[in-house]
Amino acid sequence: MKSGVEVRHFLDIAQMPSQDLRAIMDDALWRKSVGRAGPKPLDGKMLAMIFEKPSTRTRVSFDVAMRQLGGETLFLSGTEMQLGRSESIADTARVLSRFVDAIMIRTTEHGRLLEMAEAATVPVINALTDDTHPCQIMADLLTFEEKRGSLQGKIFAWSGDGNNVLNSFIEASGRFGFRLNIATPEGSEADPRFLAKARAEGADIHTGYNAVEAVTGAHCVVTDTWVSMGREEQARGNEVFMAYQVNDELMRHAAPEALFMHCLPAHRGEEVTDSVIDGPQSVVFDEAENRLHAQKSILAWCFGEVGRND
Ligand code: CP
Ligand code: NVA
Repeated sequence: MKSGVEVRHFLDIAQMPSQDLRAIMDDALWRKSVGRAGPKPLDGKMLAMIFEKPSTRTRVSFDVAMRQLGGETLFLSGTEMQLGRSESIADTARVLSRFVDAIMIRTTEHGRLLEMAEAATVPVINALTDDTHPCQIMADLLTFEEKRGSLQGKIFAWSGDGNNVLNSFIEASGRFGFRLNIATPEGSEADPRFLAKARAEGADIHTGYNAVEAVTGAHCVVTDTWVSMGREEQARGNEVFMAYQVNDELMRHAAPEALFMHCLPAHRGEEVTDSVIDGPQSVVFDEAENRLHAQKSILAWCFGEVGRND
């Protein structure tokens, strides 16, 4: 990307203009409908994909997305790069910017993502940090809209750990106009920084410790692992979380047509039972597929190609 031209990073839902989020969602629905036969606006472009944590869905969906848009990818494992031997993230960003057209990074501290974006002269995409997972939430909201229509005024309920995926839902709540009910155990609450910022922007978010209260009347019930990557040493034990397990009894309190979502990977028998994740309300594999379609549009947006469906 030439200097002087605005570099479009996809770092977080809260950092994105609302109209661009809407445009990405509409573009994703359209790209999904045209499939792999659609246009290839990223012909000749190279995406570097840095992983400092494991991944199945994010790695494969970005790789396939880039190829379907006409581009190519480089998979870079953080531990095999000089990054793993303490080369700075900023120098890594400067070097990669000379070779590739965009950088996707899955990392630990959120500050590493921001440092990468600050130093890079090509678009940087957040593929999960300790704090957020915005690409996942774009796919989840795309899935909801496909199945149930407008998000406006709908109720999402989160039952489980107050983690990075929840933080991105918190950021999305006000932007997309849905209410978010959160139930977590004491000591694993949602990050107050994210709550305060979202509420200051008008988001309708309710927090508490009772899973039944959170789920009652919800149009979508969401959970995630009780132990996120890199937090294994802080694991609190299943007994702390068992009251938040999404099982048939908990789902009975949601709206009759409620969807069940989980970003995967799931820990069956812990945060969700087989009967729910394999049941008729579960859309977890649609969410996984929609990672591909949402990310094609996120990539296209980074290159100014969203809204140009010709
Ligand atoms: N949901 C998600 O990000 O999965 P991976 O860790 O497999 O990429
Ligand atoms: N909260 C989980 C999400 C995995 C996709 C983690 O960070 O491990």
